[in-house]
Amino acid sequence: MERTKFILDEKDMPTHWYNVQADLPEPLPPLRHPATKEPTRLPPPLFAEALNEQEFSKERWIEIPDEVQAVYRTWRPTILHRAHRLEKALDTPAKIFYKYEGTSQAGSHKPNTAVAQAYYNKKEGMKRLATETGAGQWGSALSMGCMFFGLELKVYMVKVSYNQKPYRRLLMETWGAKCVPSPSPDTQVGRDILAENPDSPGSLGVAISEALEDALSRDDTKYAIGSVVNHVLLHQTVIGLETKKLMEQADVYPDIIVGCVGGGSNFAGMYLPFIKDKLDGTKPDLRVINVEPNAAPSMTKGPYTWDYGDVAGLAPIVMMNTLGHNFMPPPIHAGGLRYHGMAPIICHLYKLGFVEAQAVPQLATFEAGVKFARTEGIVSAPETNHAIRVTIDEALKCRETGEAKTILLCHSGHGHFDMAAYGEYLSGRLHDYEYPEDKVKEALASLPEVPA
Ligand SMILES: Cc1ncc(COP(=O)(O)O)c(C=O)c1O
Repeated sequence: MERTKFILDEKDMPTHWYNVQADLPEPLPPLRHPATKEPTRLPPPLFAEALNEQEFSKERWIEIPDEVQAVYRTWRPTILHRAHRLEKALDTPAKIFYKYEGTSQAGSHKPNTAVAQAYYNKKEGMKRLATETGAGQWGSALSMGCMFFGLELKVYMVKVSYNQKPYRRLLMETWGAKCVPSPSPDTQVGRDILAENPDSPGSLGVAISEALEDALSRDDTKYAIGSVVNHVLLHQTVIGLETKKLMEQADVYPDIIVGCVGGGSNFAGMYLPFIKDKLDGTKPDLRVINVEPNAAPSMTKGPYTWDYGDVAGLAPIVMMNTLGHNFMPPPIHAGGLRYHGMAPIICHLYKLGFVEAQAVPQLATFEAGVKFARTEGIVSAPETNHAIRVTIDEALKCRETGEAKTILLCHSGHGHFDMAAYGEYLSGRLHDYEYPEDKVKEALASLPEVPA
């Protein structure tokens, strides 16, 4: 019998998150204050204290609070699958494994950090959180996290996704959150943008600015973010830590790890525990491929430089690969991959040569997603389809060379709320977007000038 699923017992779940900052060969560049532009260790008073501490911590292992572990157990550990059917359909000698994060109640990896952030904010006496969401996955996840710990939540949802995905909004409201389309008339940032362009489709950068303004204007509210920053990547390492144990069970180690990157949290969560082995020289040949859309190609086309995390310049300035903080990406269906920058930890590892990046066009990702659905049965999120595309491409290369490589795919979520996008693809109405070179050039002209 061919083994298809690898499953951990609840008692073997990770009790600590892995903090890669303990093992980086060079420390991350410091943050810069958004107003003074001087190096700072402290971001503005946005996040819960415990999360601020985690942001800069150099401790290798950080304990997962019991209360967070208890909520994790409502859906974790997640399963590691062997994609026998996909392998067969591709006629490849490659061994394809995927860790499926779509079994969380919200349908993606996002609750791994949402639950932790809701817990720390509640513990520190907050009543309410404000956040942004792209495709609605993060907003749903945080709605669920806030529900578990009894917090109110306001979600600013990128307008293009708000209109494309009404059921995501209803999901958030069912868990008790309030969700508005961004740009919204509820903040100064939103009002200014609407005055200039009432039809603005919005972007993650704008929605972040709105949520920041909301949180900064109220004492009972803190901000929560679904990706990019160090503490979010830290919480997501439960994915990679579980996968490492499960791959030991399967008696394999990956040659290639593939995942999609918007702000980088699902994929970094998968690969940071493995990169540890590359950093210490045990696995020098491990390949890690960050996959992004060619419509928002921050890693493959954006310079590694200082930029704001949001459009209004309220968030700290960080060193990252960026397309410019006021870049508005084309409205691709993978709303969660429309961010202008990338997690500083990922960009740092990229600059040091430990990880790779590839950009792929929208149509090819849906072709891959449909292939996956018609072999493995899972209908994946448009974001995840980017990773599936490159997984298939690498498996097809193995067919050419005859190599039986082990490919590990980080499967970030299901696409049950994305059926309209599948409908467009299946009826031949979906199209590709070119790399928006002019718009990027324009956006890069307004990078902040930072003193040396
Ligand atoms: C299913 C799914 N995958 C991936 C992403 C991209 O985010 P990140 O790069 O932080 O994992 C998102 C973001 O919304 C998502 O919903």
